[in-house]
Amino acid sequence: MITEQELAELSFADAPKIITDGVPGPKAAELLAEAPEFESMTRGGGGFPLVFDVGKGVTVKDPDGNLYIDVSAGVGVSSVGRSHPRVIEAIKRQSQILTHASDISNTRRGELAKKIASIAPPGLRNNCISYFTQSGSGALECAIKFARRVTGRNQILAFHGAYHGVWAASNAITTGDQYRRGYGPFMGGVIHAPYPYAYRFPLPLGDKSCEEVCGDYVDYLLNTPYTAADDVAAVIVEPVQGEGGYVPPAPEFFLKVKAACEKHGALFVADEVQAGTGRTGKMWSIEHSGVEPDLITFGKGMGGDLPMAGVIMRKDLAQQLDDMSQPQTFAANAVSSAVTMTNIDVIQEGELVTRAAQLGKEVLDRVQAASENLPIIGEARGRGLMIGIELVKDRETREPADGDMMMKVVMGLLANGIIMVPCGRNGNVLRLMPSLTITRDYMNKAVDILLDVLGTV
Ligand SMILES: Cc1ncc(COP(=O)(O)O)c(C=O)c1O
Repeated sequence: MITEQELAELSFADAPKIITDGVPGPKAAELLAEAPEFESMTRGGGGFPLVFDVGKGVTVKDPDGNLYIDVSAGVGVSSVGRSHPRVIEAIKRQSQILTHASDISNTRRGELAKKIASIAPPGLRNNCISYFTQSGSGALECAIKFARRVTGRNQILAFHGAYHGVWAASNAITTGDQYRRGYGPFMGGVIHAPYPYAYRFPLPLGDKSCEEVCGDYVDYLLNTPYTAADDVAAVIVEPVQGEGGYVPPAPEFFLKVKAACEKHGALFVADEVQAGTGRTGKMWSIEHSGVEPDLITFGKGMGGDLPMAGVIMRKDLAQQLDDMSQPQTFAANAVSSAVTMTNIDVIQEGELVTRAAQLGKEVLDRVQAASENLPIIGEARGRGLMIGIELVKDRETREPADGDMMMKVVMGLLANGIIMVPCGRNGNVLRLMPSLTITRDYMNKAVDILLDVLGTV
């Protein structure tokens, strides 16, 4: 396994270090103030009070010279940290040979498809075909099209709290008021079922687990007359819900959903865009459940510094699709493909997946223990280095922390040089999702500061 010393060399030393009187500093503040004049603030980080200037490993400098530890990794994108020396080398090497071939076969994309087949989860491993896109949203668009084409069916079942992207079909299965309000009508044929989010489940569970209830409900929907879910092509599910609040259900839910899919004849699609690429302590987060998915969507951490996303399909399904029916000009750019293969090598050679499981458990144990004396923590949960800390106003009633409290936490962290971004249906879940290359020392420093800040809010 890669050593702590080797990992430390990938980032700036001495982080965090804030040298301005408060953040954002003057230069960043000026850039943030003028940005809305030139660029749409509809983008995800539009309102976040930080400007990146230099990124190295898990550390980031802003234009004022402040140095941060980034515990968000750009929402899980920088799986091996920013500008990893081997990634820079791969970019240099590949850009001197071939940059892009515009959907024509190129040597790198061919190698990447083979490599992905070798690391795919059981059921798909060396029995799958990849289709490449440039973003997670694009991957979900295509997964929906492919599932419909293969099954000859129309409906898609997704879950409350789901985030699958913001294009057309992907937006139709995404939940969340800010992504939907005023943008409809959306693609028809979409059904949303409850996700096993036990901390905020709206119905009584009796003596069953949330996973059992939600899994049984999917079976009821798909396999009972008069539910109107009679033409379902695919069930699309995040094995750990991301934007919906970092919710990691137990395997039982996925086993029940898979069984319900098989009975109905629907495909099981695991959306691994956020939880994949080793983050949860397995290469693919669905592997924790033992379920063999029919399709996987991937993105974010696979490409890391360069865009790479796509769909991994079981071979017998992929072979039913028509050749040249899904052209994409910028998919599987040769440089992005070379970088993606390098990321996979760095993850495998450094045993970063095993390390994510170990370090993630240490962090979660620590936060859970600290929560005894921090009533603002309603629940800390997670899998590997995908940890959510749900903040509340009142632990008894579970009333979510409001926008003011979350702003105090996020700004308190930034003022101390720690980058963490919230998520969740009420915007009250802090997510810890650093690059898999974060040192124990930096991770512990970030948690020290987090616990201090939470103690003051
Ligand atoms: C689970 C999941 N699916 C799909 C997407 C969309 O990916 P992208 O932002 O690359 O379009 C995201 C993005 O956060 C995601 O978390």
